[in-house]
Order: sequence, then structure tokens, then C-alpha cells
Amino acid sequence: MAFFPFEPYADLTKLQNAVTDSICELITETLKSKDTFSISLSGGSTPKRVYEMLATRDLPWEQIHFFWGDERNVPHDHSDSNYKMVKNALLDHIPVKESNVHPVQVQVDAPAEAARAYASEMEAFFGTAMPTFDLVLLGMGDDAHTSSLFPETKALGVTDASFIENYVPKFQAHRYTMTYPAISAGKDIWFIITGSAKREALKQVLFGERNLQLYPSQGVSPTRWFVDAEAVE
Ligand code: 6PG
Repeated sequence: MAFFPFEPYADLTKLQNAVTDSICELITETLKSKDTFSISLSGGSTPKRVYEMLATRDLPWEQIHFFWGDERNVPHDHSDSNYKMVKNALLDHIPVKESNVHPVQVQVDAPAEAARAYASEMEAFFGTAMPTFDLVLLGMGDDAHTSSLFPETKALGVTDASFIENYVPKFQAHRYTMTYPAISAGKDIWFIITGSAKREALKQVLFGERNLQLYPSQGVSPTRWFVDAEAVE
């Protein structure tokens, strides 16, 4: 029996509650010693429910700044947009100032320029080349990608930028993603992984050969894992 570096949550609901409670606790703790809390949000379906649950909590929204760890190369009103997903699940339900919300200013026809602009926006906010987020939330795909660091793609080898465009052959489309050094600069880095579809990828990431091209999530050292039983049995 392989030994996982975490205790899996019995079910999805328990995991989602734990993530929501943990985010609230981290915000409260962090704001005891600084004025703002910065979070890099993950896209995908797994965190959506967490964002919906966060929207019901009484948090100091005026002190919280929302960024996106990755984004699709589509307009903000497109159904695939991570911004749209977060807006629908969270932002439309809380009294957050527009200046606290930092979406990727997608340029469908000029993704490299849009990515550079976002890297500059993060540098201006943090005052450092790499963004020192208080919390980086990450999902993992069934192909072991995280953020939009997909297997065998250019972004995996980029270390001199915090945020770049990344052409993903399997989608025949660009994505936007934080790079490994940007993710690693986060103070807290949490993986949220659920469902049997992630089982094989998780096993390879944890116990397979060390190969970032095949298993990009191996390149992340999370400070916490939130994994449900479905993803490990
Ligand atoms: C995205 C995400 C991506 C996601 C994984 C898991 O834009 O899709 O950032 O990295 O976290 O694909 O997605 P699910 O949570 O939908 O399984």
C-alpha cells in the first residue's frame, strides 16, 4: 500500500467544507499581521463549489485581492472563462471592489502580449518579479497538469517569467498560466484534487518516475493537499 502524504477526506462535501474553512482561517490569520490577502484562484470545476461556499462567509472582502493562476484564451463572457466561473460563483455575490479583482486581460489574437501585461500587473502589485501570493489554489487534471502547465508544453521550461501564454496542442489553443517559479513563490500552495478520474495521475505524480514533461504537477511542492477518498482508492 503506497503511503500518501496526506489524509484523504471521506467525501467531496467534507473536502469542500475543509477547504472553505481553511481559506477563511488563513485569511483571518494573515490579516492579523498585514493589510491585504492575495489569492491566486484555480480554474476548473473542482474549486467552483468552494468559491460558492466562500461567498456565504462574512470575510473582509475589501482586504482581499483576487488573481487567476491560469486562464483560457477566450473573452471573459465565454463559458470556458475561468474569470466568468469565479464571477458567477463568488464575485457577483460579495461586496468586492473592482480594484481588488485582477482578471487576465485576455487578448485572443495576442496572447503573449496579454500574458506579459499580467506578469507586469502582478509585479506592480507585489513589488517583486515573482508574485508572493498568500495563497495559491491549484487543481490537477487527469493528465497530471496543474494550472495550465500541461504535459510536453513550452511553459514547463520557463523560469524567467511569472506568467506566460502556453500553446496546448490537445486543445489546439493557447492558455495562460503561472510558471513554476511563480507558483513556488506562494506562501501557501494548496492542491485540491477530487474524483476517481484523478487517481492514476495522482499516483504517478506522487510515486511515478520524476518527469515534469509527463507529470507537470510533480513540479509543485504544495504546503497542503486536499484530496478526497475517491482520488486515492
Ligand atoms: C483550468 C484549471 C486546471 C484545473 C484542472 C482540474 O483552467 O482548467 O486551472 O488546472 O485545475 O484541469 O480541473 P477540474 O477541477 O475541473 O477537474
